[in-house]
Amino acid sequence: MSCAIHPSILSADFVNLESELLRIGNADAVHVDVMDNHFVPNLTLGLPIVRRIQEVSPIPLDVHLMISDADRWAPEYADTGAASVTFHAEASAAPIRLARELRARGAKAGMALRPATPLEPYLDMLDELDLLLLMTVEPGFGGQAFLDLVLPKIVRARAAIDGSGAAVALQIDGGVSPETIERAAAAGADVFVAGSAVYNTPDPAAAIDLLRSLGTR
Ligand code: DX5
Ligand code: ZN
Repeated sequence: MSCAIHPSILSADFVNLESELLRIGNADAVHVDVMDNHFVPNLTLGLPIVRRIQEVSPIPLDVHLMISDADRWAPEYADTGAASVTFHAEASAAPIRLARELRARGAKAGMALRPATPLEPYLDMLDELDLLLLMTVEPGFGGQAFLDLVLPKIVRARAAIDGSGAAVALQIDGGVSPETIERAAAAGADVFVAGSAVYNTPDPAAAIDLLRSLGTR
């Protein structure tokens, strides 16, 4: 199975985002982590900066919203022209309606689950999604250790996606590195977010190529 690598600009230099984007031109998309210091205990960036990144980025935007009240805000991120917008199931009162709204606005609809959130309540809505994100760390910060306890959930999600016939990308985010990507790929993930493993290296483009070769199975 081929895979996609989405570097997270959370680990990039926030004062030089445009040049940081140019360093990952061989990536499949750039992962943009939006945090509100409410859903997670950290604050990053919001709509004005995402709009500007969308204007200058040579690669598509994969927006990950770690914010409360996703129903109110996620559609506005779809309007930026981002390729995909991922909201957290825990932050949405109406995830089916929200996924449909994102698609209606031209974005791929993504839904994320924290490590301890069960997959099973959401299996009947796979058709509504283009992307399912299983967090492999507690969201909020880069540089955390990969949680192996999520691997069985990745296996179950892969089986459910294949069984449903729906075209849903299975993304993981958190602690992805050359040391962890192979077991996540073996479990069934096919889109990998990597922040520190890409940007905290001297050659981000080479790090992307290495991750892509290790994540392809
Ligand atoms: C964490 C963010 C991640 C983060 C991953 O809450 O959602 O996208 O940037 O960073 P690494 O790859 O360093 O774990
Ligand atoms: Zn993320």
